[in-house]
Amino acid sequence: MQNMNKPEKNLLLPSYLEQSDAVKQRFDKLKQRNVILEVKGLDKVYKTTKGETVALKNVSFQTHKREFVCVIGPSGCGKSTLIRVLAGLESYTSGEVLLDGKPITGPGRDRGMVFQGYTLFPWRTVKQNVMFGLEMNNIGTNEAGREADLWLELVGLEKFSNAYPHELSGGMKQRVAIARALVNQPRILLMDEPFGALDAQSRCKMQTHLLEIWRNIDITIVFITHDLDEAIFLADRILVLKAHPGEVLELIEVPVPRPRNTSQFTSPEFIATKARLDALIHPQDEKENTETPIQQRMIRFVNVQDNVE
Ligand SMILES: Nc1ncnc2c1ncn2[C@@H]1O[C@H](COP(=O)(O)OP(=O)(O)O)[C@@H](O)[C@H]1O
Ligand SMILES: [Mg+2]
Repeated sequence: MQNMNKPEKNLLLPSYLEQSDAVKQRFDKLKQRNVILEVKGLDKVYKTTKGETVALKNVSFQTHKREFVCVIGPSGCGKSTLIRVLAGLESYTSGEVLLDGKPITGPGRDRGMVFQGYTLFPWRTVKQNVMFGLEMNNIGTNEAGREADLWLELVGLEKFSNAYPHELSGGMKQRVAIARALVNQPRILLMDEPFGALDAQSRCKMQTHLLEIWRNIDITIVFITHDLDEAIFLADRILVLKAHPGEVLELIEVPVPRPRNTSQFTSPEFIATKARLDALIHPQDEKENTETPIQQRMIRFVNVQDNVE
């Protein structure tokens, strides 16, 4: 009997470049929106006593309003350097980094950050953690409290507002971190492998949850990950970097329609995109070239299966 979990070996997948009309229209609209973030010819060289490391070389891309961009690449390709430059926490060697057309020169309220490590204050309650940024901006306790309540509701943690971080699961801590980043109503949310420390199930829940939040509010997101599935599931476009030096290989438009759901992980466009990312990030795994024009545009399912982790 045929194993239903195993697709037929000779099934052909569409090219990751093929888009349905709905997806194409979505991208056309997206590209007409204002550019929030513009990175032009960005270079970052670290100089240490041991020598120089070119962490980023000639990196250029644009992020449009309400776009969800994922940045992916092997360890050491400069992902964290890029997000730290965008956050204004790291200087850069040359190029331009513009937020709403203005150069980024340091940290600012217009950018919210969520990192992998849990960065909550352990001595503050959930609500007090979310209120912190507002208090730093001289917003009174009453108003800060009201704002915090709203954002805690948005991330589904209103019942835990008086809990302390140690009483929360990893996923809940990251939801607090998201609320804390959003409470200042930034123009852009910068996330560096925020779900990297979570177990697979919590991670999956948080991805769905983040997409819900993103759908409900006016926020642009730059999200760093090294997880191919995560990038495809979340992103409109994926910026693929290579290491040593950190350079852009490709900016991929994800052909998977929205709204996203977990059943799409096995859809042909999802698998085709994953195969492309895998080939870019692990080029030694690329299989030999196909010959006919149709085969040049299609990827044999059997090869894709071999490439997928
Ligand atoms: N503060 C630093 N000083 C010197 N070199 C650094 C520093 N931070 C990162 N690097 C180097 O820059 C490169 C990119 O690092 P990073 O941005 O952390 O990459 P990723 O987040 O993709 O793993 C690596 O070779 C790393 O060793
Ligand atoms: Mg990193």
